[in-house]
Amino acid sequence: MIFKPFMREGFMPLPVAFISTRSREGINNIAPYSCIMPVLRPLDLICLASAEKRDTLANIRETREFVVNLAGKSFMEKVIPTARFSPPEQDEFALADLTPRPSETITSPGIEGAYAWMECTLSGFHKGEGYTLIMGQVTRLEVDDIYLTPDGRLDLEKARPLMMTGGKKGMHYCTAADLDKSDSFGAMFPDGKDPLAGVYE
Ligand SMILES: Cc1cc2nc3c(=O)[nH]c(=O)nc-3n(C[C@H](O)[C@H](O)[C@H](O)COP(=O)(O)O)c2cc1C
Repeated sequence: MIFKPFMREGFMPLPVAFISTRSREGINNIAPYSCIMPVLRPLDLICLASAEKRDTLANIRETREFVVNLAGKSFMEKVIPTARFSPPEQDEFALADLTPRPSETITSPGIEGAYAWMECTLSGFHKGEGYTLIMGQVTRLEVDDIYLTPDGRLDLEKARPLMMTGGKKGMHYCTAADLDKSDSFGAMFPDGKDPLAGVYE
């Protein structure tokens, strides 16, 4: 079956990350964003694609910081309350019955209950037609220990990261399954050695 080109995310499950920001006036905001990706290993950059009419984008323009909160199934019921239009003067933590988590490196708070969170400062914008790419530099990445396996990976069974596929009828929520197989980064190189191995030490 052929699909319209814009229906990419129907076949490419995306994370549902919750972006928390604080306005210059001190009002906390949350919005779900799925168009989000890390920029190359081992850079500490993360990229969000934002529409123009977003309090999130306005707050990042003002304060140059944001938090990417990664959460599991329990946040499924928080998607619509935080995605619905609400005026900039509305505190969306209160609206969605979520608790702010004070950040360590920036003033915008994270969200209690996320399994991992990234405090970010603005690295730059790329303006396109009808969208802006927000490049963030991750200043602190923290994972709740209970979601780590003994060898330090994300325990997918415990975290059940909230993801979605988009289709004609809207958003379908899903999660990632563990395939119980790993490969080393070195396996990509002829000598079997990962040239970036040092950065993990
Ligand atoms: C699952 C999901 C993913 C979304 N992803 C994005 C996205 O990547 N970029 C974007 O600009 N809006 C996205 N939205 C829409 C915003 O979350 C929504 O417009 C929200 O009201 C923006 O809030 P704000 O004005 O407080 O920033 C998404 C909505 C949902 C439900």
